[in-house]
Parts: sequence; C-alpha cells; structure tokens
Amino acid sequence: WLDKGDPGGMHRTYDRWPEIAEESYSEEYGQAESGGVSDVVFAGMGGSGAIGDVLYSMLSKTGIHVSVVKGYVLPRTAGPGTLVVSTSISGNTRETLTVIEAAREAGCQTACFCSGGEMLEYCTRHKMPHWVVPMHHSPRTSFPSFLYAMLSVLGGVIPVDEKDVRDSISDMRELRSRISPEREDNPALELARWIKGMPVIYYPWGLQAAAVRFKNSLQENAKCHVIAEDVIEACHNGIVSWEGGGNAQPILIEGADDYYKTKERWAILRGFFESRGIGYREVRSVKGGVLSKIINLVYLLDYASIYLAVLRGVEPSPVPAIDYIKRHL
Ligand code: PA5
Repeated sequence: WLDKGDPGGMHRTYDRWPEIAEESYSEEYGQAESGGVSDVVFAGMGGSGAIGDVLYSMLSKTGIHVSVVKGYVLPRTAGPGTLVVSTSISGNTRETLTVIEAAREAGCQTACFCSGGEMLEYCTRHKMPHWVVPMHHSPRTSFPSFLYAMLSVLGGVIPVDEKDVRDSISDMRELRSRISPEREDNPALELARWIKGMPVIYYPWGLQAAAVRFKNSLQENAKCHVIAEDVIEACHNGIVSWEGGGNAQPILIEGADDYYKTKERWAILRGFFESRGIGYREVRSVKGGVLSKIINLVYLLDYASIYLAVLRGVEPSPVPAIDYIKRHL
C-alpha cells in the first residue's frame, strides 16, 4: 500500500537510512581543518537547516558558542574565529548562498556541504573548503547522508561522541523493524492514524531538533498545518488556545531524561488535557546520547509523516509550493 500511495518512492530511501548513515560516516570524506574556533554558525534552510538543529543540540552543552542561521543574515560578530558550516543539499538555495558570501567577506573559516549546484561552483571558484555528498531522493530525505558525512568531516574541529554516533545508527536499525508498514503494532502508523486535525507538537528544549524536524516533515510530506512549541514557553501563551475549541491535537515529545524540570510540566499538562477531555499522544525518546535520542525520534516521526501523507491521499515526495517560491526568488 505504501508503494501505491508514495509512487515517488520516498519510503524506499527511508528504509535504507541506517545503511546510508553508516556509509556516510566515512573517513573517505577527510577532515575539516581549523585554526582555532571560538564559535560555530550552522547555516541552511529546510531539510538542510534541520541538520544544523541537530548539530546545535550536540554542541549546546559544550563550551563552544553555537548558533543556527535559517535565513540570509550572518551574525555581525562572525569573524576569523568563527566556523561557518553551510549546508544546501541541492546547492542552489539563495539564502544559504548569501550566508556563504558574507562568511567569505568577513574572513570566517568555512565548511560547505552540498550535492552540487551553485554552492559547488562558488566554493570551487573561491577555493573554499567544501564536501560533495550524494543526495538521496530529495533534500529532506538526504538527512542521514549529510548529517553523518558532516559528523565525520567536522569530528576534528567540534566534539563528536563516536559511541553516540554508532549507537544512533544501531538504534535506527532496531527501530526500522518496528515501524515497517507490514507491522500491525507499528507506533509510527498508529500515530499517523490518530492524527485527524492539526497537530500541535510540544517539546522540551533538548529535543527541539527532533520536534522541529517533525513539524517540517508533516508539512512537506503530509501537506498539513502544524504548530511546534517549546513546552515551557507554551505554558505562558499557546496553552490558552485550547480554551478556544477547534480541531487541534496535542502531541507531547517527551525526553527519557528530565530537561530542566519538564517532567513536572508534562504531568501538569497531562492533567490539564484530561480535565478538558482533550485526547493527546505521547512520544518518548530513547535513553542514550544526544544524537541517539534525536535520531531515534526523527526516524520514527518522519515515518509517521509519510504514513499520514498516504492516509490523507497526498503524495509525500513533491513540494510544489517550495518549488514555486524558489522559482520566484
Ligand atoms: O526537503 C526539501 O526539499 C526542503 O526542505 C529543502 O531542504 C529546502 O528547500 C532547502 O533546500 P536545500 O536543502 O537544497 O538547500
């Protein structure tokens, strides 16, 4: 049924994610060199930006100052001590190309990742360090080839926990056997079947990368409106929306660990929804390193987005609205 609902074959690439991740975490890419990095900026949009979010989470508890740029503007503080890591899977994204130009002009250290396109041309012309990584199916579905290639290339410049990398790949393998379309007790399919209205995703700060990626995948693959909110901040604004009725459905992305008192917040929130008869779903991260937790959720939730697309009768692969905007930029 998935072949029929997804004639573009996106799910077949998802099925190979653990192998793609393993192949991509490869010494063959070589390593980035650095002349001492005080801060890191990750630049990229959409599927490429989602990779920056993961790397941000991995670095956020180290002493390195890190920021993510999803747009045109490089922070004004960026200079020779800044490493600007830019990703455009197609190589043709205007916003990311603008950041690369600004980084070169500001004398920043740079590492660019693309499958070709204008980014490759620009980096070759200006002799900027760059890595060409294969695109698998579409930018967002190329998540593991780019993420794991980048982890391997950047491993000498930023701290990368080798065990966490290996664990995240084996966890994906284990998860694949539980979320494949043949399984009746499939948690990704079960979540997709439950979604009938507009999903409102609540997440703890440490799992923002996974929650935002889920929002993006629901939008791009299942073509639906979605909201994603930090659970702590939402308790000061978004939560009031539930008093207004409507067809929204809360999904709680919970951590296996406590992230800054979110455990008590989940308990309060569950009580709030139950007191008002609002049905909700909980998705819990596995235990383990930062990367393993995020990847496990991304794999499960991306599968849910494809299942939802097929259940809604929309094709997950094409993104005509994004193509329209890019044509007009
Ligand atoms: O998955 C997609 O098609 C989009 O989210 C793209 O990633 C986004 O438009 C940016 O393109 P690129 O990753 O090629 O820079």
